[in-house]
Amino acid sequence: MSSFVTPPVPPMRITFDARMEPSGPVLTRRMSDLRGLFADTAAWEASLAEDPVVYEVASSPVPEAEGELPQSITTIHPGKVGGEFHMTKGHIHPRPRGEIYLGLSGVGGLLLFDGDKPEWIPMEPGSIGYIPPGWAHRSVNTGDEPYRFLAVYPGDAGHDYEWVLRNGMGYRVLGGADGPDLRPF
Ligand SMILES: [Fe+2]
Repeated sequence: MSSFVTPPVPPMRITFDARMEPSGPVLTRRMSDLRGLFADTAAWEASLAEDPVVYEVASSPVPEAEGELPQSITTIHPGKVGGEFHMTKGHIHPRPRGEIYLGLSGVGGLLLFDGDKPEWIPMEPGSIGYIPPGWAHRSVNTGDEPYRFLAVYPGDAGHDYEWVLRNGMGYRVLGGADGPDLRPF
């Protein structure tokens, strides 16, 4: 019998749509939680009057602990702030760990940045986006419907959001005439 560093969760079947069942924590990010992300500060401040939910992250009960493989479903609601698409805060894993995203519904993209060069992976239902260790990552809804994806990541990866505020993500993603317009910054 293997030994575990945390109380083990049992083998389980998890069903999912917008939420997982059985479910774990649900994180809700409103516009007011996204200070410093959007280039157009005046547009961001104007949006605070209604302070809409920008995205939600619904987790399974698998804990974020070494050896475990937690999952979450993120739903980014459609919209723009000053022409810039709704997006997640973005983070880098303090421990260099890979991660996979699976597109479930809607369209969006996975923006990656290693501190030097950015990469953009378009996402749609059925796409797998691979995030190698050492790359910061952010998701963007580039469509008119909610963009939803499943994330699966090592439980000891951790989340560093400050890194993105200090270093940016290499590109800003704006609405263009022919799809997303990636602007270096
Ligand atoms: Fe991650």
